[in-house]
Order: sequence, then C-alpha cells, then structure tokens
Amino acid sequence: MSLKRIEHIGIAVKDIEASNKIFNDVLGTGAYKSEIVESEGVLTSFFQVGPNKIELLQATHAASPIAKFLEKNKEGIHHIAFEVENIQDEINRLIQLGYTMIHEKPKDGADNKIIAFLHPKDSNGVLVELCQEKPTMGV
Ligand code: CO
Repeated sequence: MSLKRIEHIGIAVKDIEASNKIFNDVLGTGAYKSEIVESEGVLTSFFQVGPNKIELLQATHAASPIAKFLEKNKEGIHHIAFEVENIQDEINRLIQLGYTMIHEKPKDGADNKIIAFLHPKDSNGVLVELCQEKPTMGV
C-alpha cells in the first residue's frame, strides 16, 4: 500500500468566484492557484490547509463531469483525493481486487498531478481520486 495521505478534497460549485470568497473567509487564506483542466471541463482553484488542500471545481461547459454532478446533486463534496507513491501500481492493485477504475491509465490533472478516478459504485458512492506528483522529465 503506497497511500500517503489525503491530498485534497474536491468541492463542486456553481460560481467559483463566489465560492473563492467564501473559502477565503472560512480558511483565512486566499486560493494559491486557479487552473483550467480542459480534459475534465473544469475551472479549479486550490487552497492550502496545512498539509492538505481544498479544490473548488466549476464546470466550463454543459458536458463537464461537474455539470453532470450538479444536475443530480447539490453543491458540495465531489471527491476525495489520496496521494500515492506509484499511481499505476495502485490502479493495478485495485483492478486486481475487482474494482472498476474510471481511468485505467493515469491522466493529467490539476496542480501538477497525474490522476485516476475509482468508480463510486464500488466505494460507497464516494468518488475516490488517486493522485501522484507529476514525474519530472529528464532530471
Ligand atoms: Co481532485
């Protein structure tokens, strides 16, 4: 088991500007980064909370997973992300155990990470993200 920690909690929001202000008030610190992830159709902002982060997610178009989530759910917790040492090893381990991965190969995520999601049908309705710091090339 190469699971290291809860890296971040993802929160689906409708209006990221308004939510940035709310979380700025609640956490007493502003977002350190805002980033669009084209492949996921999301605009994100990140807040540091000690060794962990809060990721706010707003859909950038109607087919975005966040738009779909907000059709069925209210704004709120969308996923929990665990940092792992070797993401492909973890994906393989879970597939071996019979779990369904939304991504069987890691893909680029926000905040310099490669990521993969576990299907929530296999994890009590909780969308689980595995993430790993993007390996640096040629160093
Ligand atoms: Co995330």
